[in-house]
Amino acid sequence: MTDQKPALRPACANFSSGPCAKFPGWTPEKLKDAVVGRSHRSSLGKARLKKAIELTREVLEVPADYKIGIVPASDTGAVEMALWSLLGSRPVDMVAWESFGDGWVSDVMKQLKLKDARKITAGYGDLPDLKQIDFSHDVVFTWNGTTSGVRVPDASWIPANREGLTICDATSSAFAQEMDFTKLDVVTFSWQKVLGGEGAHGVLILSPRAIERLESYVPAWPLPKIFRLTSGGKLIAGIFEGETINTPSMLCVEDYVVSLEWAKAVGGLKALRARADANASVIDAWVARNKFAHHLAKVPGTRSNTSVCLTLDGAEDVSKKMVKLLEAEGVAYDIGAYRDAPPGLRIWCGATVETKDLEALMPWLDWAYAKATAV
Ligand SMILES: Cc1ncc(COP(=O)(O)O)c(C=O)c1O
Repeated sequence: MTDQKPALRPACANFSSGPCAKFPGWTPEKLKDAVVGRSHRSSLGKARLKKAIELTREVLEVPADYKIGIVPASDTGAVEMALWSLLGSRPVDMVAWESFGDGWVSDVMKQLKLKDARKITAGYGDLPDLKQIDFSHDVVFTWNGTTSGVRVPDASWIPANREGLTICDATSSAFAQEMDFTKLDVVTFSWQKVLGGEGAHGVLILSPRAIERLESYVPAWPLPKIFRLTSGGKLIAGIFEGETINTPSMLCVEDYVVSLEWAKAVGGLKALRARADANASVIDAWVARNKFAHHLAKVPGTRSNTSVCLTLDGAEDVSKKMVKLLEAEGVAYDIGAYRDAPPGLRIWCGATVETKDLEALMPWLDWAYAKATAV
């Protein structure tokens, strides 16, 4: 191992797992058509919000009979709306294997205090035994565990004829991983992940069965206005046509629209997935070359192609030292493991990251590891 700095640097050093890198070529100039200074309820404002919904359906390949809404408070807002509006009509299985999934477990058990709730969990690096899930219950899970880099490999474990609803936090998988919508009743995500958009707004996607639940079941607890999806027992249709519950940032909306247009231009969902796969395989190859680096996700089929989490041999602070060194060199920002996860690195490989930038980063990881472990 050499002390010499690699000659090549990533052109973009943004490898954060959220907010993630903007798409290649993004500049503030891209937002020039933003409907700013106007009401979001003006025909112009509503049209832009509707466009964001339509492009989401097109790029994410959402079935025509599913509803797509833009909601407040980012992905967390979308998940909370779903949990508080839908749960309680039947038992629920809470499936979690890292920090964000654990957060939803705690919400349902400690805040909603649902009696009929089971925890099906695993530690960092593993996926729980999905065979334990009872699909006559509602099921809440995170498709891609952002803080452990463990994802469900596919949706084959979800029966098509389930009785309960499947509620899926897909914020770090949407636009990067193959998700079978017919197996999912609620899908949520935020804009700042795979498409490199801005935080603040969430997307809530509902299947016909989720809508049926909303229209036939009233939770026993009060719902604040910000969570309310129905009025007089009927779905508030406007939310799914661009009439947001409260005021959105039209600058963020514009940024999302131009990100979706970029996604379309590079080839849509398939191309976005291929970009993430190519990125993750650069790190796979690096791990294969280095005995000291390991995927936190134990089973290859469960390894994320977005939030790739690694552990490193050596003292606990090796990764922290590396993160500092790499940041000081301006070659990688925000690649430390999540605060609740085992120490290590987490490198975002979503579609807006350029493969050549990851390729340029790998020799820097060698350099930083050598430096961080030198006595
Ligand atoms: C799986 C998962 N769920 C929820 C969140 C919270 O997202 P937001 O900040 O958009 O509410 C994150 C953020 O990284 C996440 O990775």
